[in-house]
Amino acid sequence: MTNTESILSEIDELKQIALSDLDKLHADDDQLENWRISYLGRNGKLSSLMKILATIPNDDKRLVGPKINDLKDQLNKTFVDHKNNINKIEDKSGYFDNSLPGLNLSSGNYHPTTLIIREICQAFGSMGFEILEGKEIETEKYNFDLLNIPSDHPARDQWDTIWLNASTEGEKHLLRTHTSPMQARIMENKNPPIRVVVPGKCYRYEATDATHEWEFHQIEGLAVDKDISFSELKGTLFEMARKIFGSDQKVRFRCDFFPFVEPGVDMSILWDGKWIEILGAGMVHPKVLSGVGYDPSEVSGFAFGIGPERVSMLKNKIKDIRNFHINDLRFLSQFVR
Ligand code: PHE
Repeated sequence: MTNTESILSEIDELKQIALSDLDKLHADDDQLENWRISYLGRNGKLSSLMKILATIPNDDKRLVGPKINDLKDQLNKTFVDHKNNINKIEDKSGYFDNSLPGLNLSSGNYHPTTLIIREICQAFGSMGFEILEGKEIETEKYNFDLLNIPSDHPARDQWDTIWLNASTEGEKHLLRTHTSPMQARIMENKNPPIRVVVPGKCYRYEATDATHEWEFHQIEGLAVDKDISFSELKGTLFEMARKIFGSDQKVRFRCDFFPFVEPGVDMSILWDGKWIEILGAGMVHPKVLSGVGYDPSEVSGFAFGIGPERVSMLKNKIKDIRNFHINDLRFLSQFVR
């Protein structure tokens, strides 16, 4: 092989090796610099080729010289491009790979209690009821007296009621044990016709278990007008049950006692073959009507109190009422809507 032939094949070989070496370098600045020195440096492999060039016949130099120059240009350019590319990938702040999957941002959801309260209130809303809210701190007068609950009634016992130390003008305060005090507050401030539902938190001083919480919700309902009868109470509550549980839901009333209604009932729904109580209700007691200044011979009304957590437990197969308060995301995130 002549010198010319061997230098031509060396040029080809050098090109291949140099490019494949460069391709393997991804980050390390030292390695990149070593590559540059070993190929393009003053004593590098291209310089050696130049030295061999000096030893070949002049005619051949015109053929080989430009090839070496081309190779030098190509290696220089590829080196600069490669380095820029690596820097781009390294620079995380400026580099955005829009082919990567997006970050999953979690957003908050409504609490299951909020969801069931809204659903129940909406059912009553569609029957013409407005929605009001009351205060969680009540006075003895509204929580008990105006509701015809006598002072020796067991519900007033300290075992059932969380009394507050604070009292104003001799009135004792408590965390309301039910939403029924709003019946009296609404009637004092409005004239019939009245149709309202009042969702809210209630408190009782009692031990918790799977079906009892000391802190829970109720939805109070009240309708007062001329000629309101028991059949309207029944029709309204049966319709609510069908809206919430489905159009073929079986419902039953049984006699029950609450001092502020007469007659009083509880309502159960047939669920998984068992009758489960979900609310108390009745016709507003004449003493309650006259207590707020209404004339019981002029107007009548019905009232009810629903436990929304109980309704949600049935609908969503929740075994333990305490789940509503322990803030476990594994529970709460099942109610995304
Ligand atoms: N306040 C009653 C309770 O807490 C429920 C109820 C409300 C009953 C309205 C009758 C009428 O159990």
